[in-house]
Amino acid sequence: MLRRFIGQASIAQRCRCLISRQSSADTLRRCSSSATASSQAPVGTSAEQPTNTQFSDDYTSQPAARISIDRSGLSNPPEHSHETSKDSELVKHLKSIIKFRGGPISVAEYMEEVLINPKAGFYINRDVFGAEGDFITSPEVSQMFGEMVGVWAMCLWEQMGQPDRVNLVELGPGRGTLMADLLRGASKFEKFTKSLNIHMIEVSPALKKIQKLTLKCEDEDENTATTLTGTPVSWHSTLEEVPTGLPTIIIAHEFYDALPVHQFQKASRGWCEKMIDVAEDSKFRVVLSPQPTPATLYLLKRCKWAPTEDLSKLEHVEICPKAMDLTQNIAKRISSDGGGALIIDYGLDGIVSDSLQAIRKHKFVNMLDDPGSADLSAYVDFPAIKHSAEEVSGLHSLFIIWVLFL
Ligand SMILES: C[S@@+](CC[C@H](N)C(=O)[O-])C[C@H]1O[C@@H](n2cnc3c(N)ncnc32)[C@H](O)[C@@H]1O
Repeated sequence: MLRRFIGQASIAQRCRCLISRQSSADTLRRCSSSATASSQAPVGTSAEQPTNTQFSDDYTSQPAARISIDRSGLSNPPEHSHETSKDSELVKHLKSIIKFRGGPISVAEYMEEVLINPKAGFYINRDVFGAEGDFITSPEVSQMFGEMVGVWAMCLWEQMGQPDRVNLVELGPGRGTLMADLLRGASKFEKFTKSLNIHMIEVSPALKKIQKLTLKCEDEDENTATTLTGTPVSWHSTLEEVPTGLPTIIIAHEFYDALPVHQFQKASRGWCEKMIDVAEDSKFRVVLSPQPTPATLYLLKRCKWAPTEDLSKLEHVEICPKAMDLTQNIAKRISSDGGGALIIDYGLDGIVSDSLQAIRKHKFVNMLDDPGSADLSAYVDFPAIKHSAEEVSGLHSLFIIWVLFL
């Protein structure tokens, strides 16, 4: 029923963890040295294929160049072709990035474009929630969800000594239902509700409009409004835009799983990043990077946090640098201004191996098929979030709830 429910069995089967800390570092070193070796192979030498059965395309290695792929076998349509393309605007855009960059893009870049490309991203122009949409989330199922989150927020506010002014930030508020339920549930506690400055972090203009309606806001300008009960609400694209200097309560429900993930696969030459390319038939396909990519640094960091015994069996690893960086920003803000964060999501208590999934109209689909028309999401790696926060400030005020269906 919920957004991730239908994926549980397959994800549980696919999630087998892990290698030793030492062996992960070795493997990564092997990746860089064998990438050098593969760079001496003749052009067009075929190598391993991504093993995820969702993808059936070739990987071809190429000499010398950094993060480049042998493109000799790929289609290269004439610049001034008169054939009418049936590709959507987003597909054309993705193909043009790949073409003009002269090589494939990371799964993370693909995921980000598909979800939040400003013109045609999945979230940008429409309401994707509910029976008529593509998936449903907990706040849309029951008002109790937002009310309970409100109880948590009020308890935290009490613990902070009932400050007169508080920033209440929601990351990725969807239709605004959680915030509306929170405010209604807390409406009898006037001292709390009067202290609130609400900040919604949202990139979708369509969802922003719906949030304003849900919160019954009177517009002041495009990004600021006031609820009927007088609570000021403002909209931002990122957490960094929220003014500092006030205690801050941050809520993120099913936000982290929409952040772009990089995927790695263990090949005979070591860990290689999965990249998205265009095949001869003009469809998207997954290839492996011939050499370590910049995201490998985050892979190394993530493996250092994994228990030694967990690492050796891993064949695939998924990492989310944006989740790690966001958590550090949250932790820094809470350390300096006071407050707390509540992160609720689907995920694992360990390294995530291969969870990226696409859902359209409540059904699983291939993530490469008609990008922009299906939601992409990945399991959240909760230990990575915990360690990221600890690196900055300790974990005093970060509350994490995760949901697993196994
Ligand atoms: C899965 S929905 C969750 C909605 C809501 N929290 C709920 O539970 O119903 C993800 C939300 O995050 C927003 N979003 C996704 N990626 C974002 C990004 N990089 N920056 C800001 N908002 C983003 C989407 O537009 C959407 O509102």
